[in-house]
Amino acid sequence: MTLPQPYGDYQIEIYLNGLQGVLPELPMDYTELERRAASAMSPTLLSYIAGGAGNEFTQRVNVSAFEKWGIMPRMLRGAKDRDLSVELFGLNLPSPLLMSPVGVIGLCAADGHGDLATARASARSGVPMIASTLSVDPLEQVAEELGDTPGFFQLYTPTDREMAASLVARAEAAGFKGIVVTLDTWITGWRPRDLSTSSFPQLRGHCLSNYFTDPVFIDRLGHRPEENLQAAVLLWAGLFGNPLTWEDLPWLRSLTDLPIILKGICSGEDARRAKDAGIDGIFCSNHGGRQANGGLAAIDCLPEVVAAADGLPVLFDSGIRSGADIIKALALGATAVGIGRPYAYGCALGGTDGIVHVLRSLLAEADLIMAVDGYPTIADLTPEILRRN
Ligand code: FNR
Repeated sequence: MTLPQPYGDYQIEIYLNGLQGVLPELPMDYTELERRAASAMSPTLLSYIAGGAGNEFTQRVNVSAFEKWGIMPRMLRGAKDRDLSVELFGLNLPSPLLMSPVGVIGLCAADGHGDLATARASARSGVPMIASTLSVDPLEQVAEELGDTPGFFQLYTPTDREMAASLVARAEAAGFKGIVVTLDTWITGWRPRDLSTSSFPQLRGHCLSNYFTDPVFIDRLGHRPEENLQAAVLLWAGLFGNPLTWEDLPWLRSLTDLPIILKGICSGEDARRAKDAGIDGIFCSNHGGRQANGGLAAIDCLPEVVAAADGLPVLFDSGIRSGADIIKALALGATAVGIGRPYAYGCALGGTDGIVHVLRSLLAEADLIMAVDGYPTIADLTPEILRRN
């Protein structure tokens, strides 16, 4: 399924509802979304979602760096019919928007099944979900809820190669259309907010269902995880983070014929090496500033990565908070654009409906900017339409 188009008509729906006295229940701007979601979550969950590394400079600059760019409006171009569709790895997607993997999305929904809520939002909206390795519900159950919308599986590569191969094979069998390998999180960054409450959900046994249902994991453990949860969590902690090197890429490549996308690449040199290694796509991201503080704004890394990727698809996330940000990332060369925290907040406030509202709002704003500024297709969004503010 896809959302009603043009996406901008979401505003008409809202204004017409207003004529019947029905006002939107969900927030219409990001600040309000964040504020209301904060009161819907427990303090520890909130710090895990909202927090970042160090004093959160990277996280803040990820967002503020978008304001350095302005979109040049062009008139008399008749942008009445807009087309936001994109092609990605042979898939025709109705929009360039993606839901980036969020490991604890499962815990964000009121019923504790936020992975399924996200998958259902993906089915309803046509916006692909990149399902995290860390989930409350196993990847097979997530895949079942995706409907006709293609999904991607994000891999935190375990140190045990057989376990890694098992996760990839399961994702392939479940129908996921690509494997997003996250490179920047083989170790957790320094996160003062979580440290101050000594809270790390996975160490409490949360969001580990993909491991606990995995035959290789169960084999290594020697018993069912529920028989001794502490032992299972300890095994997980030992298996979780693999500090991959370029030498591991041929092995990763050999695991699947699905497109492999490397997430966390911010330098042109790394993008070039990934391309040479036969990788199918680059995901320019700094994990939303959750991993290494003192970094660059992700959007400022994008042009270098796009140039080096030399035609390879470049996905982008980190700091997208509005439709305008989506347009700017596309103009700077992203093929598709992901969001993390915004949909986690939507999930906390309204489950599937909350996520769909966040997606519709972002797409509506992007579509209306394209209408007003005279850029009817994604191909019209090039670096030339941007100026420094
Ligand atoms: C993440 N992110 C993430 N990335 C990943 O590859 N696997 C994962 O399991 C997670 N988990 C996760 C949890 C939480 C709470 C957040 C906020 C983020 C990173 C995510 O995919 C994405 O890169 C960022 O969220 C993008 O930044 P914004 O949109 O949150 O600014």
